[in-house]
This record gives sequence, structure tokens and C-alpha cells, in this order.
Amino acid sequence: MTSTEKSSGLPQHIAIIMDGNGRWARARMLPRYVGHREGVKAVKTIVEACRNKGIRALTLFAFSSENWRRPRDEVGLLLDLFIRTLKKEVEALHRNGIRVRFIGDRDAFPKDLRELIAETEDKTRANTTMDLVIAANYGGQWDIAQALRVIARRIAAGEINPEDITPDIIAGEISLADLPEPDLFIRTGGEQRISNFLLWQLAYTELYFTDVLWPAFNESVLDEALQSYANRQRRFGRTGDQVEQLKGA
Ligand code: IPE
Ligand code: IPE
Ligand code: MG
Repeated sequence: MTSTEKSSGLPQHIAIIMDGNGRWARARMLPRYVGHREGVKAVKTIVEACRNKGIRALTLFAFSSENWRRPRDEVGLLLDLFIRTLKKEVEALHRNGIRVRFIGDRDAFPKDLRELIAETEDKTRANTTMDLVIAANYGGQWDIAQALRVIARRIAAGEINPEDITPDIIAGEISLADLPEPDLFIRTGGEQRISNFLLWQLAYTELYFTDVLWPAFNESVLDEALQSYANRQRRFGRTGDQVEQLKGA
């Protein structure tokens, strides 16, 4: 057991922007695709590590609503890799008690992928060891818009009034409403930006940025992030003294 595993400061929910696949490949004079392929290996390592550490939920940014802007070839290769990986891994995920679900606008995906997503979610729905959330064709702004659409329909149906809209009402319709908000956000690849990932849900998340490129991410880098998290004081607007008092109470 590492010190982070013993610490009570283990995040319940980790959200990761897996960035740097292309640069990892380029640095090796390889096509970007090889970076994405190696990135899948890192996903497997990290899912397993999180499960073994007792993390309750892991949300991974696999494809953003902006990634359609990439060259057609790369988008096609990414979707293929996504389909092949899902097909290959769903059994093992299920065996390991992992509930898999997807957030994002799946309507834009080809039919076979939409079906695979639905099958994977159905198959693993009753699993309770860990939630694995894959953000695919996801955008934080899209997420807020889809939540508002649901709320607008409720208003149109006369169920609620515009005055009833509170952060809690929005939080109830946003993706991952049933999970604790991410405690720890990790972005690999050196960029320090959110890139339209979870906007609403990251309001009070601890942010961790590392220069490590995603295909090189492994359990020891994860442990560094967990160590950093364990050393932080989450104040949620309170003073540090108040937080210490609350801990002692
Ligand atoms: C992240 O790696 C994977 C996806 C966005 C799908 P990139 O492909 O963005 O890699 P870099 O940032 O170009 O190195
Ligand atoms: C964010 O990475 C999206 C995913 C990791 C899926 P990008 O590489 O697309 O982000 P930007 O465009 O550089 O901000
Ligand atoms: Mg990138």
C-alpha cells in the first residue's frame, strides 16, 4: 500500500483530460495514430489502478465536441479505435464490476457505435465496484445547453416556473447528476486549460496539470497527482481555520 492509499484524502471521483497522444508519437517520428493506440494502453492501466485503489468514479475525456475539426482521417481512426477497444474490453470491464457509461451527444456517431454504447451501458448497468464514464462527443457547453432544454420542457409542461430554476435544479439535469462531483481533475500533456470538458461539474474540483504525455501516464504519475490532492485543503469558501475545526468536530 502506498501512502496515498492509506490517506483519508483519496478522491471519490477523478476526471481526466487525456492529452498529448499526438506529441508522444511525433517525438518518436511515428504517426499520430500510434500515439492514440498507446493511449488506450494507458487507459487500461489507469482504470485498473483506480479500481484497485477504491476510487468510486473515473471520468475520461475521449473525444471532444471540437475534435471533429481534426483531419477526417484522424477522426475516422479515432472512432475505429474507440469501437475496437470497446468491443475488446467490455467483457473484462464487466467481470471487474465496472459500470460503464457515456456522456456527450451520441446522435452524431455512426449507428454501430451508438449501438455498442447502448449495449455496453446495458450490460454493465448493475455493476457497483467503480463507475467509468467516457466523455465522447462531449462538450461542457453542450451539457449545460442540454440540461437547460430539459428544464425548459418542464416549464413548458407547467411542472415548474422560471423562478424555480436554481443551481440545484440545473445540477439535477446535468450529466453525472447521480455521481459526486469530481474531486480531482488531471490534465496530461502540459496544456493548462479545460478545453470545454466538464464546466458545471468542475466548479470546486482540485486541478492538477502534468507535462507527462498521456501514453506515458502510469500509476506512479497517478500517485503523484493523488499525493498532491491529499495535501490540499479544500475550503469551499470557508476559512482554513473553519475547515480545521470542522475536521476536528
Ligand atoms: C489527446 O491527444 C487525444 C484526443 C484529443 C483524442 P491529442 O491527439 O490531442 O495529442 P496532442 O495534443 O496533439 O499531442
Ligand atoms: C481535449 O484535448 C480533448 C480530449 C482529450 C479528448 P485537445 O487536444 O482536443 O484540446 P485542445 O484543443 O488542445 O485544447
Ligand atoms: Mg491535444
